[in-house]
Amino acid sequence: QIDPCTLVLFGASGNLSRVKLMPGLFRLDALGRLPEKMAILSVGRSEVSLEAWRADIKGMLDAKFKKGYDQKVFERFIARNFYHANPPTDPNAFAKMKDKLSDEATFPQNLAFFLSVRPSDFAQVVDQLAEVGLTNEDKYWRRVVIEKPFGTNLPSAKELQASISKHLKESQIYRIDHYLGKSALQNILLQRFANTVLEPIWNSEYIDHVQITNTEMLGVGDRTQFYDATGALRDMIQSHVLQTLALTTMEQPKDLSPDAVRAEKIKVLEAIRPIPVNDIEHHAFRAQYAAGEINGEKVPGYLEELGDSSSVVETYAALKLFIDNPRWKGVPFYIRTAKRLHEADTRICIRFKKAPLQIGNGQHQNWLIIGIQPRECIKLEIESKIPGLDINTRTIELDAANRQDGDETVDAYEALLLNLMEGDNSQYLHISEVEAQWRLVDPVIEAWAKDRKPVHQYPAGSRDPEASKVIFEHEDQFWRYSI
Ligand code: BG6
Repeated sequence: QIDPCTLVLFGASGNLSRVKLMPGLFRLDALGRLPEKMAILSVGRSEVSLEAWRADIKGMLDAKFKKGYDQKVFERFIARNFYHANPPTDPNAFAKMKDKLSDEATFPQNLAFFLSVRPSDFAQVVDQLAEVGLTNEDKYWRRVVIEKPFGTNLPSAKELQASISKHLKESQIYRIDHYLGKSALQNILLQRFANTVLEPIWNSEYIDHVQITNTEMLGVGDRTQFYDATGALRDMIQSHVLQTLALTTMEQPKDLSPDAVRAEKIKVLEAIRPIPVNDIEHHAFRAQYAAGEINGEKVPGYLEELGDSSSVVETYAALKLFIDNPRWKGVPFYIRTAKRLHEADTRICIRFKKAPLQIGNGQHQNWLIIGIQPRECIKLEIESKIPGLDINTRTIELDAANRQDGDETVDAYEALLLNLMEGDNSQYLHISEVEAQWRLVDPVIEAWAKDRKPVHQYPAGSRDPEASKVIFEHEDQFWRYSI
């Protein structure tokens, strides 16, 4: 049940809005998930007529839904859409926006503000909303979505939090990590806790180590400036990869309510042992992609794309972490992310300890693999006798795809937009999670920024650099691939 509401979209002409938000809202409308009384007010810097804006939206939908879409839904959707110019030079811009929103017949008064703006503008936009009284909740709810990254390190995240919490309660703040909107990530908790077979072995007694991998074949594209100020650790590990780790390792929440789930995630994130600053080189590894080949096509290296050969910013980052609680005592977690690796793959790989019965030269260690993307699956590798006269084993696979023909494909942003309107922030981040994640990566980011030695290079399209193995605890540990 969603209350009548208005979604106010800042940065509406930007890439996120064009590719994800507008098409996502359209899909929700097509699925009948938007309330009848729901308006979208797009806010941009430049003056654009309503007709031109609606034509622009049509272009976004045409680009996204190449096979076409339902005209009836389109008519309904387009009639929900409005535009407001908010030029940065106009001191009264927010007051004018408030005036526009006061037309209650067009704009239901429950308001969700989606800030798809430059991270350095988050605090200021919230200040200005508050100044004109748009953050006060009396008769109606008011919610604000803050896109990633929430700060660039722990102090700046705290500063942003202090600034916005002058005007907003925690329940009004929706901090995005879009991975939490992915069905495959949400499935981790369900697979763990809606079955009885996994939990009893989900601990240090049975598990040798865990790998959490998130690799891409894409390079940094046209985001070189952003990326060079960010790096893989900030861009992916601080957010998506650590959230995947939290879902994989948290204790069972008492129910699936936002508070219960987030409380358990916070506990486990806070239990991760800080990376020892005097031994970073055995706990953290970074590298940059050099020129290479992706799908048979030659691609340039990161430094060439950037046009600055002095950059030490990583496009590959791997960490070894330990969780100091009874369940995970002594279990290493190897987490890594990379651009331009040989495969695009997000997965959780769990290696179990050696079985008591060792036959022949086999390794006899089971792996359980949870595929997140591109393939959503769960796979168990087990040792089994090779039929015949001799006693010997080989590894066979129990491999189940989670996605079946006819299943709905929902984009992460669609799910998150729906949650926002429903007032469910369980798939958004609590400030304590954001802080715990910065606390963990900050020392590595600082050490790496100071270390100006040339970083390891890996050819685009290759596997992990050999030198990354430095973080493994044991010689028999190795990176798992999907192929
Ligand atoms: C974003 C990062 O948060 O996630 C990008 O900034 C990355 O660098 C992207 O490519 C990956 O998201 P997805 O949903 O395509 O796996």
